[in-house]
Amino acid sequence: MDLLHRVLLTALGAFSVFYALVKISLGYWKRRGILHEKPKFLWGNIKGVLNGKRHVQDALHDIYAGYKGRAPFVGFYACLKPFILVLDLKLVHQIVFTDAGHFTSRGLYSNPSGEPLSANLLQLDGHKWRALHAKSAEVFTPANVHKLLARLTQISSRIQSDLGRESLQTRNISELVAAYSVDVMASMAFGLAGQDHQEFAKWTRNYWADFKLWQAYLALEFPLIARLLQYKSYAEPATAYFQKVALSQLQAQRRRDRQPLQTFLQLYSNADQPLDDVVIASQAFGFLLAGLAPLNAALGFCLYELARQPELQDRTRLEIKRTLDQHGGQVTAECLRELRYAKQVLNETLRLHTPYPFLVRRATKEFELPGSVFVIARGNGVLIPTAAIHRDPEIYEEPERFDPDRFEEEAKRSRPPAAFLPFGDGLRGCIAARFAEQQLLVGLVELLKGHRYAPCAETTIPMEYDNRRLLLMPKSDIKLSVERID
Ligand code: HEM
Repeated sequence: MDLLHRVLLTALGAFSVFYALVKISLGYWKRRGILHEKPKFLWGNIKGVLNGKRHVQDALHDIYAGYKGRAPFVGFYACLKPFILVLDLKLVHQIVFTDAGHFTSRGLYSNPSGEPLSANLLQLDGHKWRALHAKSAEVFTPANVHKLLARLTQISSRIQSDLGRESLQTRNISELVAAYSVDVMASMAFGLAGQDHQEFAKWTRNYWADFKLWQAYLALEFPLIARLLQYKSYAEPATAYFQKVALSQLQAQRRRDRQPLQTFLQLYSNADQPLDDVVIASQAFGFLLAGLAPLNAALGFCLYELARQPELQDRTRLEIKRTLDQHGGQVTAECLRELRYAKQVLNETLRLHTPYPFLVRRATKEFELPGSVFVIARGNGVLIPTAAIHRDPEIYEEPERFDPDRFEEEAKRSRPPAAFLPFGDGLRGCIAARFAEQQLLVGLVELLKGHRYAPCAETTIPMEYDNRRLLLMPKSDIKLSVERID
């Protein structure tokens, strides 16, 4: 047999093995007899997502809308990886709350030996996550979040100086809110003092520099190979910078006298049995990773919606001004508690533009759905399509309409608790949800109290999302006209 024949036969053999493996992977739900969306070769049911033609939120929404009411969940494939998409709010509640013990993992890629900062709360699973979670729950108590308010309001005052004294201007709102969130992270997660966080801000823009959705997918699908190849999720110079900052701040903090509690670093290292410094640094990075983009997106989307509905904007501002007047112009905890309408506005923003469009879990034990024949097998990946639930017309009438009244107490009570989960919930819910809500509210007060926002020629209407991101972010920066009001 000549060389050409051998090469052809080897190629044919390799292709047949590859084809068979793909077919076996894409036959998982059929073999289990579970209702599922018919997959396309290689792409499964997320065609267009990995190459940025479609947002993952839209792919999940279509499956949810197509199968809801037919079963508690449906099987689908993210390329070759089988996942369960939850369709029923009762099952969402079981997975997130009542039976959360079966779903304590996320199954994300993490490689602590090659990339120490990936050992953070968001990415870890198993006993390492459990230990960290217990420690972090001590940090993010309501009392501690309360203690951080004074520093937060100090930082938020930069919004006024950033807006300047011009009476009318066109502003890049995405940049404006990012400057505030980056300051909060630099100061509270990493302990950096002062106002000038330009270097820090530069690295927050760079750590995703090499991020490719398809590479992240491959690392998720083949974690052992990814670890062997030392795949890195984040740009190395950026993670080296963040680690250096956190470690040096921890050391500097020990040299200083005891100070009022103003940062997460202090809270972690003041614990009775403090964690190792590198582990604390990984948590600071995890906060950046988990918190920065959704905070920016939420505040940006909020101003965008208020700019388009001036009467809602005026109502929010009026409440803010009246409440501030009653509290001597100070943003105190009590003042924030009284800002009911502003909170409704923020919740409606998180409903309509859900920054995390889905929640991820991996079943750590087999879960039999009570009173049914359905079983979620150990190891199954589970997605809860929160964005699709938040836009389900059977739960939220006219879901595309921005209407903060949906979050009045009575309206909220009429819906099941699992109908609104922008921060997830239960064991693996957002550890910093209370802090994030406080940060959003303080930011909104500062943005609205002296300025009015309106669409301008550079505002993209309707909103377009960036398909290359898993989180929901605008495709291009949000720009609005800003008028100073005295
Ligand atoms: C608008 C802002 C934010 C939104 C919408 C948000 C949303 C979320 C969601 C949906 C999850 C997954 C929850 C689940 O799977 O049930 C999560 C997890 C997490 N978030 Fe947030 N988040 C925000 C801000 C923040 C901030 C500011 C921080 C840190 C200071 C933070 C730290 C974390 C961490 C550490 C986790 C992982 C928790 C764990 O797995 O134990 N988040 N967040």
